[in-house]
Parts: sequence; structure tokens; C-alpha cells
Amino acid sequence: MDFLAEPILAIESSCDETAAAVVEGLAIRSNVVSSQVDLHAVTGGVVPEVAARAHVEAVLPAVILALEQSGLDLLKMCGIAVTNRPGLIGCLSVGVTAAKALAYSLGVPLVGVHHLEGHILSPLASEPSLPFPHLCLLVSGGHTELVDVREPGKYQVIGQTRDDAAGEAFDKCARLLGFEYPGGRELSEAALKGDRDRYPLPRALMKEETFDLSFSGLKTAVLRLVESQGAKLDVAHAAASIQRAIVEPLVSKTLSAAEVLGRSTVTLAGGVAANRELRETLARECGRSGVNVVCSPLELCTDNAAMIGIAGSFRLALGERDGFDLDCYANAELPGRHP
Ligand code: KG4
Ligand code: ZN
Repeated sequence: MDFLAEPILAIESSCDETAAAVVEGLAIRSNVVSSQVDLHAVTGGVVPEVAARAHVEAVLPAVILALEQSGLDLLKMCGIAVTNRPGLIGCLSVGVTAAKALAYSLGVPLVGVHHLEGHILSPLASEPSLPFPHLCLLVSGGHTELVDVREPGKYQVIGQTRDDAAGEAFDKCARLLGFEYPGGRELSEAALKGDRDRYPLPRALMKEETFDLSFSGLKTAVLRLVESQGAKLDVAHAAASIQRAIVEPLVSKTLSAAEVLGRSTVTLAGGVAANRELRETLARECGRSGVNVVCSPLELCTDNAAMIGIAGSFRLALGERDGFDLDCYANAELPGRHP
């Protein structure tokens, strides 16, 4: 697998983080993330128009800081990578417009990157000799997918959530327990002091022989639990029980998919990959079956531009170039689907 060896600048603005990074292949020289979490905590979720305006204010300061921290001058950049799909259109267009302007003024190649390809390739930053093919459990606020990664650039989604993403399930349950948006991390911190078997909750496993999951029943069950327990509810026990109800089906579906496909390496990526219980349970259960686990580094789990730089370096090394008519897409399939 080849990566462009020269430094490139990467920009990510698909949702609620404005991010810029400088990478040289798999070497991350800087990784700046300007989060809008406080802004969206007021509304309890991302308002696309508010997020887009915040990106406009944050994108150039993030680029300047990423360059400063990399110790490299803008003129040293040999390419610009930018997330152009999938995501909130107004948000994506801020990053894409900035990237086009920079690529034009520097006279360097521009490449649009699929956000999920960035997440999927991020474990390479922990393990540059990551074997292919492998199976990736991609769990974020917007996505929960099991992806068969045949080789870099060739991805096949073999299972996914039928409703809420794992991060969404964490966040919605966290909200029911009274945590501020987004809440996934806070819930997992509260769970540290709780008993995960205290409150019985449904698992997201589908009955059919599929690698799909469904988390909507959990949300309803937690709502009923909160209503029925009232002031008696022990938040730490509830948090631990919820976390277990999310982690357990993710791990068991991943294990059975690895077994069916005959994959001996599993990677974990996306915002929810920062969850300690998930990292530990996956490593333990896979270890029992002789399956090797590589997790994305913690700083590359939640949205960031370094992962976009890694995917962009790969795409640029393949010779891919986008024109100044590069568009943004709210929805987009992963590239390189194989039969
Ligand atoms: O990948 P990401 O930054 O954004 C999307 O592309 O969606 O993922 C954000 C999600 C949020 O739902 C957040 O609550 C969740 O990742 N998250 C966590 C943890 N850290 C972030 N969920 C559980 N435990 C955590 N430690
Ligand atoms: Zn993401």
C-alpha cells in the first residue's frame, strides 16, 4: 500500500468538528480539532445551519494552527485532501471551498475523501503493517457498520444498523439519564462505578442470520426504565447496563462476521471506538478466538483531519486528482465495492 511521502494538508468539516492536519503518509505532523460541542449542547444536537456558520469561522484558524504545529510552511504542502462526502452539505462545502482555494493558489493537487474511508484507514496510524484483508467495526455518531476491507480502497459493508447508530444510541440514552449532549463519553465515565447487570436491557441483535443490528429498542427500554424508576434510578448502574447493552451485540456480531469471512484481524474505528469497555471487550473476546485486534489511536477515533490526510495520501499516491468542480454529497457509498 503506497502513500504519498510528501506533506499534504487535510481538512475535515463534515459534521460538528472543524479539523485540519498535516500528514506525510502515515506520519502525522499535526492534528488540530476545533470542536463545536459547546455550541450544539445548547440545542441538544447539531443544527446544520449553525454548524456550517461555525465552520466558516473556524476553518482558516484551524489550518493556520495545523501548519504552525507541523513546523512546515504552507508553501511546502504538496497536496490538499478534503472530506467531500458523506455529511451535512452546508458543513462539507465550507471545507471543500477552503481546500479548493488553497489548492488553486498553491498549484497543488486536490483530492476529495470519503469520510468513512478516513475512519477505516485510521488504525494504520497505530499499526502501519496492518494486514489486509481485515474486518473493520466502524462505530460513530452517524454510522455503525461492519466493513470487509479486502485491500485499501476496496470496501464491502457486510452489516449495519437498521436504525440508530451506536453513538446515537449512547447519546440518546445519555440524554435520558440527564447528561449533556453528546453524552456518550460522560455515560461511559458514569458507568465506571456502576453494575452492568443491575438493569436488564434488550440487546440489539437481530434474530435473522445477518450482521445487521438495531438499537431503537434499547432507547425505548431506557425511556421506560427512567420513567418507572423515577428518583430511585441509580444513574451509574443504568449507565453501566446501557453501555453493556450496546457493547455486547457489537462485539458478538463482529466476532461472528470475522469467523464467517475467515478474517484473522479486526480493526475498531469511529468516535465510539474511544469507548474503553468496547476496546477491552473486543480485544478480550477476539483474543479468545485467536483474532488480532487493532484499534484506532484514541486521538483519531472521533472526527479529525489526520485520518482524512491518511486516506488522501493513499488516493493521491494512486494518482487520483479532483477538479475545482469537486462537489459535496450528503450520502455516498464507500468506494471500491467488490462483489
Ligand atoms: O466519529 P464521531 O466523532 O462523529 C461521527 O462521525 O459521527 O463520533 C461521535 C460519537 C458521538 O455519538 C459520541 O458520543 C461518541 O462518538 N463517543 C463515545 C465516546 N467518545 C465519543 N461513545 C461512547 N464512549 C465514548 N468514550
Ligand atoms: Zn466520523
